[in-house]
Amino acid sequence: MSKYNAIITGVGGYVPDYIMTNQELAQKVETTDEWIMTRIGIKERRILKEENEGTSFMGAKAVLQLLEKTNTNPDDVDMLICGIVTPDMQFPATANIISDKTGIKNAFGFDLNAGCSSFLYALNTASKYVESGTHKKVIVVGADKMSSITDYTDRATCPIFGDGAAAVLLEPSEDKEIGIIDTTMQVDGSGRKHLHQLAGGSQKPSSFETVLNREHFIYQEGQPVFKAAVSKMADVSVDMMKKHDIKPDKLNWFVPHQANMRIIEATAKRMGISKDIVMINIHKFGNTTSATIPLLLWEWEDKLKKGDQVIIATFGAGFAWGATYLKWAYNAK
Ligand code: UT7
Repeated sequence: MSKYNAIITGVGGYVPDYIMTNQELAQKVETTDEWIMTRIGIKERRILKEENEGTSFMGAKAVLQLLEKTNTNPDDVDMLICGIVTPDMQFPATANIISDKTGIKNAFGFDLNAGCSSFLYALNTASKYVESGTHKKVIVVGADKMSSITDYTDRATCPIFGDGAAAVLLEPSEDKEIGIIDTTMQVDGSGRKHLHQLAGGSQKPSSFETVLNREHFIYQEGQPVFKAAVSKMADVSVDMMKKHDIKPDKLNWFVPHQANMRIIEATAKRMGISKDIVMINIHKFGNTTSATIPLLLWEWEDKLKKGDQVIIATFGAGFAWGATYLKWAYNAK
């Protein structure tokens, strides 16, 4: 048993100013606000329009805000992990670029790609370093510029995604009543056929042909992904409640990945919890992939209270899914 729990001690976030509405999308593809609202639950999403800026632009803004809010000297940060599927470049890691842009010089770091579960997997990975006592100030970023791989001629995928970034600071605490209590994670690589970006990797390097065939964009077969998301996210969340004997009325917050309002509602229903405790911002930010979970914590920070029981659940490309049970560690100032 480790001496420390890993606790979240602050949250920073950033979304671009530009708002892409359903009306704007309806000018690009054959769709309607009504279809997008009923089938997905998204009204608008943020898009990073700054020229020649990648995901690190947003990640760095989130980290700078986090450092300021938590009064943290960048020199004291000893690790930064970035959950991401749209890195600035194939290499080096966007975590390194964010560290460079935010004056973090004494840390090691890396990117972690687990589709929409990237932030949760990064949080769990980081928590092990903190619990072991080797690392004391660890930043976990979730950031994605999904607009860079979204095909705005494909009506089945373009309404879903948006851009954003958020980050948390993890620190050790000897108080075992707060912090990250448990995480479960699982992957099923056979799900890759339903959700992937075909070209640009080592299997199918970029060429004129791959560009002409639009193979650098998100490929998704919506229905099989939907079915798997509903069952897996509910399974891991319900199992976590059972394992820790958390009755629905004792859970304070549920923090689900924001992929589709119908997936969120179905998961909450199976958990038997009230909609009032479900964090939801999909209507205004869409699916920001690695950023959905920390953006929710960022928006809800003022409402979270020390000791609140929180379950986070995610599902995404891979397939990769999981759930984390934590007890919130502080009251916001
Ligand atoms: O975060 C990563 C994990 N991803 C997910 O969790 C996404 C899971 N999947 C979904 O959320 C849903 O499957 C989608 C939102 C992607 C699609 O919703 P759906 O209810 O599964 O629609 P569908 O693909 O079965 O399409 C139903 C109909 C089709 O028309 P027909 O063949 O019935 O005539 C589509 O062509 O809706 C049509 N359609 C649209 N119509 C208007 C598809 N996209 C649109 C659109 N506007 N944007």
